[in-house]
Amino acid sequence: MCLTKHFRLTLLTIGCALLSANSSAATTLKLSHNQNKSHPVHHALQFFAEKTNELSQGELKIRIYSDAQLGTQRESLELVQKGALALAKSNAAELEAFSKQYGVYNLPYLFKDKTQYHNVLRSRLGKTILQASSDNGFIGLAYLDAGARSFYAAKAIKHPDDLKGLKVRVQPSPTAVNMVKALGGNPTPLAYGELYTALQQNVVDAAENNIPSYTLSRHHEVSSIFSQDEHTMVPDVLVISTKVWNTLTPENRQALESAAQQTTEKMFELWANSENQEKQKAIKQGVTFVEVEKAAFKQAVEPMYQEIQQTHPDLYKLVEKIKAIE
Ligand code: GCU
Repeated sequence: MCLTKHFRLTLLTIGCALLSANSSAATTLKLSHNQNKSHPVHHALQFFAEKTNELSQGELKIRIYSDAQLGTQRESLELVQKGALALAKSNAAELEAFSKQYGVYNLPYLFKDKTQYHNVLRSRLGKTILQASSDNGFIGLAYLDAGARSFYAAKAIKHPDDLKGLKVRVQPSPTAVNMVKALGGNPTPLAYGELYTALQQNVVDAAENNIPSYTLSRHHEVSSIFSQDEHTMVPDVLVISTKVWNTLTPENRQALESAAQQTTEKMFELWANSENQEKQKAIKQGVTFVEVEKAAFKQAVEPMYQEIQQTHPDLYKLVEKIKAIE
């Protein structure tokens, strides 16, 4: 009897100790992305980590792994779906294969201008798209501005005819593949990390990206003419594993959501500065930026909208809603 009582007391003491250890222990969430530490994506994610720590009162720590250390965007997303990785920064092109609504962001010349693009990322409709993947193992927490994407090669691309016969690297996105086909080029899907060598060794003749990614991944060293046709504005997206999300307290979920929302706003500012700086730096390093008359590009991709209207009326509705946002 006495022994049993003693045993119970001991268990209680150990139990209390464990409980207090647990309640004060912080949870560390790993976050993967594929840019280097000079890229505005890394700076925005550092801001997100600091805010999350602050808003969760130290209960959530974010450990950032840059440079695709934990794998390509696709591999990271697969880890997120399994719950083996908490967070990943991807983009709408890559996510199209995992959640079809993201595909609309890959349609060329979807947005009227930069302001409308920003307003869509802030809109309720934008948030609906972030939530749509919860049954596929991940939830979008935040959009990050990633500017406009344009073609670059060893020659100027001023008209879709200039893409004829060129092997053009695209992200693994069905819409990006269709876009390059519609413009007359030969799309070659490749992971981001393979592109520098592919351009250097002429495995591909051209690629397309935003200015900071073009310069900070040093693609300008091997492909020095950047033609500003600005065919797409594809947002980056920070996602969290549904499995991990379900283990968090309501307070900590709130902390993450609020940190994510602030990060979207912060990135608008970081992005504008980086785009400017990187362009000026690249000009000094010998890159030629070419102004492009966009009408012929817009005309060449128009059938993509008709096709989506016929084959995916649900997605076409989304396109119409996006276009209706001011
Ligand atoms: C952008 C984007 C990345 C993406 C890359 C690419 O840099 O931010 O998420 O991987 O484009 O072209 O693959």
